[in-house]
Amino acid sequence: LNIGVIGTGNVGSALGGAWAKKGHLVFFGSRNPEKGKKLAASVGSNARGGTIVEASRFGEAVLLAVNYNFVSEAIREAGSLEGKVLIDCTNPLTIDRGLSVGYSTSAAEEIATLVNGAHVVKAFNAVFARVMATAEEYEPAPTAFVCGDDEDAKRVVSRLAADIGFEPVDCGRLKNARFLEPAAVLIIQLAYSLGMGNDIAFRILRGQVPCGG
Ligand SMILES: NC(=O)c1ccc[n+]([C@@H]2O[C@H](COP(=O)([O-])OP(=O)(O)OC[C@H]3O[C@@H](n4cnc5c(N)ncnc54)[C@H](OP(=O)(O)O)[C@@H]3O)[C@@H](O)[C@H]2O)c1
Repeated sequence: LNIGVIGTGNVGSALGGAWAKKGHLVFFGSRNPEKGKKLAASVGSNARGGTIVEASRFGEAVLLAVNYNFVSEAIREAGSLEGKVLIDCTNPLTIDRGLSVGYSTSAAEEIATLVNGAHVVKAFNAVFARVMATAEEYEPAPTAFVCGDDEDAKRVVSRLAADIGFEPVDCGRLKNARFLEPAAVLIIQLAYSLGMGNDIAFRILRGQVPCGG
């Protein structure tokens, strides 16, 4: 798949790098095109780099990997995202680890109001960048929670998650991002306040005994 990545920070480089390694073509878009090109050069032949609008034009799927405070700026810079799968991994964290958007909406739903015609899918927000880059090494595979209102778009993102070592779990409508964003707060607390470290990951387990109808 052609994937545009907006933002060359921890998440952009981890997911973009992992997808390129698996044979996807990745374009890293940065406010500083040289930074995007440099990251692409370090990733290898499946990667290119340049501006944010180049990344958004290139991608059939576009990963929005910027701090939530800068999403509207980045989306404006990206231009039209019509028909694209827009992967939202953001967490609208406050300084004291609350959610700046509150609990009766979500960053994902707010982003959906900013992008005409794009299919917003929430994914990877409750996964640490370190785990994104190394998911294949986990046994069993870490879970990637995925929610969105467009079934095809959700399938695309689930496939992209599986390609780099995650077990995707369909979490229903985009509105359910209201539960996925607090899940990120929980895992951040576990990692940093409670000392478990940022190599931990969520995993949904199933019982071995089949449930009767
Ligand atoms: N770090 C994690 O483990 C993790 C895990 C799950 C979700 N998330 C979420 O993923 C998103 C990205 O996190 P991150 O850790 O990758 O952040 P980061 O390392 O700070 O990178 C964010 C990138 O956003 C880009 N950007 C675009 N517009 C910007 C602006 N106006 N000001 C500053 N930067 C701007 C920058 O890339 P350019 O300089 O190339 O433009 C920057 O490198 C956040 O919403 C975060 O909540 C993070």
